Amino acid sequence: MTPLSTVSLAEDFAAATGRCPDGVWRAPGRVNVIGEHTDYNDGFVLPIAIREGVAVAAAAAAGRHGRTLTAASRQRPGEQVTIDLDHLRPGHIDGWGAYVAGVAWALQERGAGLPGGELIIDGDLPVGAGLSSSAALECAVAAALDALSGLGLSALELARIAHTAENEFVGVPCGVMDQMASMTAVAGHAILLDTRSLRAEPVRFSPASAGLTLLVINTNAPHALADSEYADRRQACERAARLLGVPSLRDISERDLPRALGRLHDPMLVRRVRHVVTENARVLATASRLRGPMGTSGGLASIGPLLTASHQSLRDDYQVSSAHLDSAVEAALAAGALGARLTGAGFGGCAIALAPVGSVPDIVASVDAAFCRRGFVTPAYFPAEPSAGAHRIS
Ligand code: GLA
Repeated sequence: MTPLSTVSLAEDFAAATGRCPDGVWRAPGRVNVIGEHTDYNDGFVLPIAIREGVAVAAAAAAGRHGRTLTAASRQRPGEQVTIDLDHLRPGHIDGWGAYVAGVAWALQERGAGLPGGELIIDGDLPVGAGLSSSAALECAVAAALDALSGLGLSALELARIAHTAENEFVGVPCGVMDQMASMTAVAGHAILLDTRSLRAEPVRFSPASAGLTLLVINTNAPHALADSEYADRRQACERAARLLGVPSLRDISERDLPRALGRLHDPMLVRRVRHVVTENARVLATASRLRGPMGTSGGLASIGPLLTASHQSLRDDYQVSSAHLDSAVEAALAAGALGARLTGAGFGGCAIALAPVGSVPDIVASVDAAFCRRGFVTPAYFPAEPSAGAHRIS
């Protein structure tokens, strides 16, 4: 991954448009520490924003009279998306332009008056790796358009706008975790997010100061089936909640779980519910260990078994893992990781391993060897650095 250069992005903007941008905004991707497939069940998640993300250089149309927004991306040379702000409807624009147009649409639906203008986008997040490149794009555009139109919306409001754009304009039925992480994250912290109330509590999370690394293992395996399987999981959870007479699976506690499972006759629903309920409990247990009396290092080093239990539940009960992800997790644990799990929706994408810094080379060698034995493409690795949410960088 080539790190983003704000200077050259501003230079590109000037070369393409003949003027300087009004600013450059940046929004990060995310790695979810724990709490998978809980966000569309009104549950708890604990993501961090990472250093890698998306940047947008933007300027409003001169005199603010234009009603056209144009967007170009350095990752898609030669493609330009033209967005007519007066005739913007879901379904009119697809591909990467839909994420940009969707944010403009969601802001206008909320009553915002947007100026036309120009956007140039750059990113250093691998696309389709489960690190929320879509949310990062939406959030960077949301932050830019908010500033260009002088709206002054809060990070929480912009996260909601970005989420509406993805659900209603792009048409992806995702939960709110990715947009909340990208907008509201705090450097050196994970965000304990209650997806029902949208209360976001920063919880100190600093692997480096505890002698640890949160290693991201990008399996480079595409998210096979991710869209249809994701929608299936979501519908199964909604059906189970209806059968159990609760607004969402969030309303079932671990104590109620045996009784709830006894009322479900479909073994598939039993597995799905068991994952969501136990995963919510694992998120809260992880957050309390991170805040715990043992201090940051003791607390952080002690969350490994919770991460691994999350993976097992995602593999066996929620059935969203893959051969690549299981191999990465097993090989990382065998080489000294304290805990490891898939992160994001599953079916490919990335795994994470929490490990003492000194054991990272062994973990990389062990995962590489496991992938080679199985004939898989070699993964990519990088340390996740808990970073700040979307902000203006120049
Ligand atoms: C994707 C979605 C999120 C969340 C995760 C699974 O990343 O965008 O909303 O549901 O999958 O935890």
